[in-house]
Order: sequence, then structure tokens, then C-alpha cells
Amino acid sequence: MSQSMIEQPNVIYLKDYEVPAFLVEQTELRFELEEDQALVRSQVRYARNPESSNRQHPLLLDGHESLELQRLSIDGEVLSEKDYRRVGEQLSIPNLPDHFTLECITRIEPQNNTALEGLYKSDGMFCTQCEAEGFRRITFYQDRPDVMALFETIVVADKQRYPVLLSNGNMVDAGDEDDGRHWVKWQDPFPKPAYLFALVAGDLECIDDRFTTASGRHVSLKIFAETKDLDKLDYAMTSLKQSMKWDEEVYGREYDLDIFMIVAVDFFNMGAMENKGLNIFNTSCVLAHPETTVDAGFQRVEAVVAHEYFHNWSGNRVTCRDWFQLSLKEGFTVFRDSQFSADMNSPTVKRIEDVALLRTAQFAEDAGPMAHPVRPASFIEISNFYTLTIYEKGCEVVRMLHTLLGAETFRKGSDLYFDRHDGQAVTTDDFVQAMADVSGRDLSRFKLWYSQSGTPQVSVTGEYDAEHQRYTLHMRQSCPATADMATKQPFLIPVAVGLLDAQGDDIPLTGGQTTEVLECVAAEQSFVFDNITVEPTPSLLRDFSAPVKLRFPYSREQLVFLMQHDSDGFNRWDAAQQLAVGIMSELVVDYQQGRTLVLDSALIEAYRQILNDASLDKAMVAKVLTLPSEAYLSELAEVIDVDAIHQVHRFVKDAIATALAPLFLQVYQANTSAEEYSPDATSVARRSLKNLALSYLMTTEQPEYLALALQQFKQADNMTDSQAALTLIAHSGFEAEAAEVLASFYQRWQSESLVVNQWLAVQASDPKPDALARVEALQQHEAYDASNPNKIRSLVSVFCAQNMQNFHNSDGSGYRFLADQIIVLNKQNPQIASRLLTPLTRWKKYSAEQGALMKAELQRINNSGDLSRDVFEVLSKSLA
Ligand code: PHE
Ligand code: ZN
Repeated sequence: MSQSMIEQPNVIYLKDYEVPAFLVEQTELRFELEEDQALVRSQVRYARNPESSNRQHPLLLDGHESLELQRLSIDGEVLSEKDYRRVGEQLSIPNLPDHFTLECITRIEPQNNTALEGLYKSDGMFCTQCEAEGFRRITFYQDRPDVMALFETIVVADKQRYPVLLSNGNMVDAGDEDDGRHWVKWQDPFPKPAYLFALVAGDLECIDDRFTTASGRHVSLKIFAETKDLDKLDYAMTSLKQSMKWDEEVYGREYDLDIFMIVAVDFFNMGAMENKGLNIFNTSCVLAHPETTVDAGFQRVEAVVAHEYFHNWSGNRVTCRDWFQLSLKEGFTVFRDSQFSADMNSPTVKRIEDVALLRTAQFAEDAGPMAHPVRPASFIEISNFYTLTIYEKGCEVVRMLHTLLGAETFRKGSDLYFDRHDGQAVTTDDFVQAMADVSGRDLSRFKLWYSQSGTPQVSVTGEYDAEHQRYTLHMRQSCPATADMATKQPFLIPVAVGLLDAQGDDIPLTGGQTTEVLECVAAEQSFVFDNITVEPTPSLLRDFSAPVKLRFPYSREQLVFLMQHDSDGFNRWDAAQQLAVGIMSELVVDYQQGRTLVLDSALIEAYRQILNDASLDKAMVAKVLTLPSEAYLSELAEVIDVDAIHQVHRFVKDAIATALAPLFLQVYQANTSAEEYSPDATSVARRSLKNLALSYLMTTEQPEYLALALQQFKQADNMTDSQAALTLIAHSGFEAEAAEVLASFYQRWQSESLVVNQWLAVQASDPKPDALARVEALQQHEAYDASNPNKIRSLVSVFCAQNMQNFHNSDGSGYRFLADQIIVLNKQNPQIASRLLTPLTRWKKYSAEQGALMKAELQRINNSGDLSRDVFEVLSKSLA
């Protein structure tokens, strides 16, 4: 029997929360970094927690099997093995006084840490990742966010190899030792939980800048990277300064230390980490340069730099009581960074992108085996809960509060929240309470958004009474059962509504406003509008005012009308999406029943109108003319027919391209400019429209358009244009040219790791039938590194999550491939393994045969033995 079957991982429940038995006053750390080990000495001053009910409670320290305990002493007295107990990976020390200092020396092997949690090596440098529970891989500690302490850290290492030694807070002392080693001492004046601890040691260089806060404090800003990447840091620095200013202006939040540092590392499980004063970033989220980074990459850098910076208040100054409250910091911080990005770029485009992600991926999560509320009630492994629900839906929940309260009251609420809880570890209830207190509203029903999982559905119908000039909207809400929760109570759903007259103008509503926020709180509810002189067309859920699936029986004419006239930019886009979804869903049925596919000309005509409308923002045009993705169509489908969706998508795109080719060509040419590259919103918009036009043209597989794409590929002076052309050519049926551009691209960019990742991703997402063989071959390529999460994501994740028709090949080869990857990664890097599993977990949404093949692979992983907690949890929920 394998070990995992004997020791079933524990489920941890929110309802079992207890305050820590001891509080920490001060944590002093000393790291001796060497090539084959690190010695960590921690000296921690503990005091019994007056709020703990049990005065006899032992001290429970979290640890990990990889820790080698070398010495444990209390107030200078060494403990022997009978003085403490090992309970699983924890240490339990009984019979303690109310105040004492515990010294602990552990030996760890960062160079062998492939999980990338705790202290590990990335490309020759030491770095840490402690959220959520990585600190316990460094030393024995109460590794929980409600234990906050002042940290003092000394890092000792070889001076030549590791000239730069960093930790949180301010550098207070440094010195050389005789043996070629040196040390630096850091002090963090703000109490923090262990998950915000960070350390970096490496041969790094940095760019320097400074920022003066609103109150006149001078902050030194440093962004560190390897020398070769020093030229790719300017955009992150600009973004950082903009974020600092924005947070002062919009939230009244000032930075609080004398120094703020960012370090770029190549081996990282996630995007970035908000460690106090020392953010650590995946290179993919901080490096940017026109020659190597696409527009979306620039925007990602801007957003992630802002996100991590904003955590300094929403996360660090006020942190989470326990990990069930993860969305307290993540949902709020995503909301803050989304407001920031909206302010820096186009708000409508930002909203469209966020909603598209939510609707495809978060809604799918709700419909799958890992469904959970924004505040989960239980988990086995917290790393599995850094999800779209916690982040993106959590953001939507905060956004709804903002909508319900209005910007001004919301700001008062956030001020009160930061004020009231500064230096504390709190809950989502505390956050909502601050909003309730400033608004005087009872938000108890609203809080169901935190405790109930699932995507609510709202069905709306309209009724016009000409005689009384009255328009009524009838709403019904329900929420389907999710894997974790059978029944739900009605939510408080803010539905922002406008009514359009026959000309497409907004009809003034209550108080003359053109958009009114209706609050739907019951399973069935009606809303009456008086003095409506003609039957209106309703514009519903403007700006996507709630994370729900809203249905209204629009005719195609009404959708076209909304596309052309709605004053709400988001709903103009959404009308186009609904129009296309309706048409494509019918075509999927036609395809399944063997009928000839014919595209409703309404879609072509609507697209033609948009292309001819010079008044529209180019980024909006590009968004409106982008067909609903195959992933979105899959999410909407009852049973996913991958092949039908794929064929229909191709057919529709081709039919539009063929009908509108001259227009697309015009748009392409009109937006090809010789201007110098800039990642500003207007230029990004122009490129996105141009490359969308090229993608339609390339769908037709006409040699003249191939020539255009080849020309763009050769002449591009920026990665956005170069990669767009590369992808289109590589994915086309022009095989010789495809091979040629892929080879020349690699030749040109092989020394740029992030560009090589894009090159891998382009091949992994190739819809042509030989993609799997290609992916397997690329795993042997010199450019691949099976221990680097960014490489795994670019090749394996992209293939399994984005190359639908190849991953779901009916011979099961895609599933087998993924299971093989997971069996290896389960031991090497459980977090990545567990994330990679996602596509297989959705097996119930596919046909019986397809689902059986997927399930069989899940079972094979399950039988492979020694499952990590991460993989165990996802598997057991998927197979339940
Ligand atoms: N807290 C990080 C963020 O949201 C994400 C993260 C989680 C990074 C866990 C690493 C590990 O920005
Ligand atoms: Zn975050």
C-alpha cells in the first residue's frame, strides 16, 4: 500500500479556526548560504496569547519533511528529543512558560528544492517563496498569517558569487568576513506574517529611481535582474511610480518604508509575490522591451507591478486571519489593479478582457469539481485555492460593493477598513463590515457572495404597457448546484440597466440618470419604469455589474441595434458576442446533424458596419470583431463537442473573412504605420486592429495574404507585430513557410528565454494535427527545461489548455501525455502538477466516450502512488 493511502491528507475547516496559542514578538533569522546547504538559525521571542482559551496549550510549530533539525533550545537550554513531539510535520513543545525565546537551527538544501517553495535556487541565485506555507520549509515556526512579528534577518554568503544580499525592510548593517564571505543585516519595522518574508542572494544588477510620497517621504526604488536583462526594466519602473502615485490619489495610501525593491527571477511558480518591501517577480511579469515583449506583455507587467505594490496596504499592512480569507487581499487587490489599468488604458477594453476571462475560466471552475466560494469553507492544500474564483470572482464581489455604494462611499469604507485594521490579520467579514458601517446598509444578504459558490443565472423578460406608458422588467434568479454545495439562497445581484429608445438613445430614468442599478434580491422580482413613452430596448447588466449569467430573449435585430447604439461600451461588445454565440450555437447543431453550414448574413453585416464606423475606438473595434473563443463556447455548452465547436469557429471566421476581405485589407493597410513602437493605449489599439485584420485575411489561406504576413514578419521592429505574423503563418496550412518562420524566429531569439517561451507556445497551440508529436519533440529541444515552470506552462499547459482539438484527440493521446507529465511533476513540483491537471478534471462535460478516456487517466495518476497533497485533493474531488 502506498503511503498516500495510509496517510490521507487532512481536510482543514474554517469552522475549526482557533487563535494561536502563542504570539511572536520578534523573529531573528540568520542564513548561512552555501552551495550544498543552507543553515538557518531562528531566534524567536514568544509570549502566550492572552486570547487563547487553553493556558496549557503546547507550542505548535509547522515544519516540513525536508527540514533537518539540528538544534532546539529554550532560553539557552538545549532541548532533547523527549522535550518535544513530532506530530506529522509539526513540532509540539509542551510545558512552556508564558515568555521565552526559542532558538532553532535547521539545515536545508535549497539547491535540491524543485518545488520552488521556501528557499530555493533559480538560475544560480538564492530566492524564497513563502506564500502560502513555504516558510515552514525554512524553519519550524507558527506558519500562519495571524502570527505577525518584527523580522530581523542576517544573510551570509560568498561575496563573489552573491554580491547582492536582500531581505525585507531596511538594510541596517553589513560587513565582510575573512573567508571571502560577507553579510548584510535587514530590519523590517512592520510586523508581518511569515508568508511575507523574503530573501534574495545573487549576482544581480539593478536600476535605481526614487519616489517622493505625498507627505514628502523619499523612497528609493530598485529593480534587480541578471545583467543581461538590465535593459528590460524601465517599463516596470515607470509602472511602479505610476502605481505609487495612483494609490495615493485614489485610495489615499502612501508607501511606508525607505526602500522598495523588485527582483526578477526565472524560476517561479506564480506571477509575482508581494513580500514586504521586496517583491519577487517571475521574469515574465517584470521584464519588458519592445523588441522582445508583445503589447499584452507590457500590459501584464504594468498590471502585476501595480497589483503587488497595492498589496502593501491590501494584504501586508492589513493581512488575512487565515487562508480561508485569501480573497480578502486578492479580490480587493485585483479590483484595485483593475481600476488602475482602466485608468492607464481604455476602461472598456480592460473590462471586456476581465469579463471574458471570468466567463470562460471562472464560470468553468464553478461548473467543475473544484467549485468553491470566494471564502472557501474547507481545503486540503491551500495552494490549490489560488484560483480564478478567489482572484477574479473575488474582484467582482468587491466591484459590486463599489457599484452598490458608489465611488465616494466605497472610498470611505476602504479608509475605515485600513484605519480600523492596520497591523491586524482580519476576515472578509471585517471588510464588508467597514463598508456596511460607512453606508449604513445591512449587507448580510450581500455576504452570500462570499459563502455560496456557483454562477447565478438571471432570466429577464420585458413587458411594455403602452396604455400606462410603463415598462416592467421581470427577473428570476437561481444558482445551479455546484460540486461542493447543493442549494443556495438568492443573492443580492446589482443589475445596472439602461433603456434605449427607437433611435438608440438612452431614456432618462429615475433622477434623470441613464443607468439605474436595480437590486435583485429575491428568486423572482419585478421592476417598473414609469413614463416610458415607447417600447424600449433594455440594456442589461451594463459594464457587467454582477458575475452572473443573464439571459434576455433578444432578437438578432435587437442585438445588432445594441451593438450600434448602446452608450455602454461593454454592452455593445457583449451584444456582438451574444449575436455570434447564438449563430454559432445553431451551427454547432447543424454540424452535428451533418447539415451544410450557412452563416446568417446578420453577423457579416453587423461586422461590416463596425468596420466602417470611423467614430469607434480601434481597440473596441478589434474586441467587437473578435469571435467568442472556443473556450467560451465550450463553457456555454451542455456537453462539449470539441470538434464541432472548432469546425464551426473556423467556418464562421472564414465566411466573415471571405465576405469582408477588401475591408479587412483596407483596415490592415490603414493601420500599418512606420511610427516608432510605443506601448501606449492608442498604439496598442492600432496594432490589435491591424493584427486582427491580418488574422481574418490569413484564414482565407490566400497566397497574397501570406505574402503580407511574411512581409510583416520580416519587417517588424517590435515583438507584437513579429509574433502576430509568426503565429498566423505557423498555424496556417502553408507548411513550408511555417517551418521557415519558426526556424528563423528561433535563430534570432534563442538567447532570450521569454521569447523562446512564446516560440514554444506558438507551436503548442498549433491546431494542425501533428501538434502533440511536435510538443513531445520540443521537450527534448535544447530550449526546453523541464524544471522551469515558465517552460512547462509555455509548452505543456498551452497544449493541454489551449489546443482543444489536439488535446482532446479521440484516440486519448493528449490525455495520456498530460497524465505522464503529472506523474513526474507530482514529485518534482506539486503546485505546478496540480494546476496542470485542470483540463482533465472537467471530464464530466464531454461525451461519455471522451469523458471515460479522461477519467481513466485521472485514475492512472491516482494509482501511481505517493501523491502530493496538491494533486491528491484535485484528483479526489475530480473522481468523487
Ligand atoms: N500573492 C501573490 C499575488 O497575488 C500570488 C502568489 C501566491 C505568489 C502564492 C506566489 C505564491 O500577487
Ligand atoms: Zn495578489
